[in-house]
Amino acid sequence: MTKEAFRLISPGGTESELPVRTGTVGPDVIDVGALYKEQGVFTFDPGFVATGSCESDITFIDGEKGLLMYRGYPVEQLAEHSSFIEVSYLLLNGELPTAEELDTFDHTIRTHTMLNEGMLNFFKGFRYDAHPMAMLSAVVGSMSAYYHDTMDVHNPEHRDIFAHRILAKLPTIAAAAYKLNIGQPFMYPRNDLDYTENFLQMLFSVPAEPYEIDPVSARAIDLLFILHADHEQNCSTSTVRMAGSSGANPYSAIAAGISALWGPAHGGANEAVLKMLEEIGDKSQITKYVAKAKDKNDPFRLMGFGHRVYKNFDPRATIIREMCHKVLKQLGRNDSPMFELALELEEIALKDDYFVEKKLYPNVDFYSGIIYRALGIPTSMFTVMFALGRSVGWTAHWLEMISDPQGRIARPRQLYQGPPQRDYVAIEKR
Ligand code: ACO
Repeated sequence: MTKEAFRLISPGGTESELPVRTGTVGPDVIDVGALYKEQGVFTFDPGFVATGSCESDITFIDGEKGLLMYRGYPVEQLAEHSSFIEVSYLLLNGELPTAEELDTFDHTIRTHTMLNEGMLNFFKGFRYDAHPMAMLSAVVGSMSAYYHDTMDVHNPEHRDIFAHRILAKLPTIAAAAYKLNIGQPFMYPRNDLDYTENFLQMLFSVPAEPYEIDPVSARAIDLLFILHADHEQNCSTSTVRMAGSSGANPYSAIAAGISALWGPAHGGANEAVLKMLEEIGDKSQITKYVAKAKDKNDPFRLMGFGHRVYKNFDPRATIIREMCHKVLKQLGRNDSPMFELALELEEIALKDDYFVEKKLYPNVDFYSGIIYRALGIPTSMFTVMFALGRSVGWTAHWLEMISDPQGRIARPRQLYQGPPQRDYVAIEKR
């Protein structure tokens, strides 16, 4: 269906027809690609509040309805019926796998989990207290040194190998970062275990004694990985796309995405939420902190609240809140004071005019840390957990971006506010 174009008439009378493009679902977009050529002006949209940066087939969010779909499947259905490895196949390939396809994919990921032994030496260069996100980004970046001559971004086979390596090796790197922090030996991956079990084994086992994987923990983490797997053009994913658009080595592009994720306005919020709940400490302090969050002169924000796209509820937060109840009960910790505090904080904030008017709701990060904490994951690893889940989304987006025949280098323009042209002044005359 062709839609009527937007007509734009400049004050001088120059007229442009801006084509309207329609997606399968979601709002239409106005194609402004020809605007500068025809009108000599750019569009201006800091933070990309109203700007689509690409076409994508991967993930759709309806922020008003609180809908999130991977390749058309609502995340609630995937959370209930699927596994992270199956969701990864779906995101990378576009369709749910047959039993045989899933088996082959699972086998490929399980058998590419080891790191080049030299890569482990990188960790020796970090201080014992290095933040695991910094190590994750640095070591993933170093993969571009290991796989540079063998990585031609135009070769589909190389691209597949890259996708499998990222998915398979990231848990090994993440677990090694944690082991460095606590001074324990790195644990090698075990290919007889599935993706999540293997990660838990590398994180928590020690060579001195047998380790039993707790199925409740494994399922909870797998579910959290599913919920974090993709979220269309968020900050870290756009970073991966942008870095990759120059044809850069994709491992470096993923490292850039990890760095972007670390910020507290993005994936770093899960760590910040736990720190905030610790700081609040007691239900009696909630009103004080809610007032601080509303105070324009106070930089404090309620971490885990608000979202650029969700203006009604974040479906991931709803699932995680339910999961919190279940997991804490299964672990025999349904009296978790941290969870009680979070529930109360949510209730008070959701009744407050400030949060209601600004449509600020708990996001995915609000409750995830409470589950991680209950499962024994240290706070500094929370954003790493997010990165593990999101790695497949970054990879799917990089693959989509690099295989787009219309793809161009991402290169935004600006509104320059610096000095106009002036002449160099000799130092003695300044
Ligand atoms: N606490 C108090 N006030 C808030 C909060 C909050 N958590 N979030 C937004 N606001 C207010 C802002 O002060 C602003 O008020 P104003 O219009 O009076 O100036 C208004 O709500 C809109 O906020 P923006 O920052 O302009 O919204 P934006 O879409 O740019 O930012 C963001 C979204 C970054 C998520 C923001 O809500 C925030 O900082 N939240 C806390 C951090 C967080 O939880 N991040 C995780 C996001 S989800 C994810 O990445 C996985």
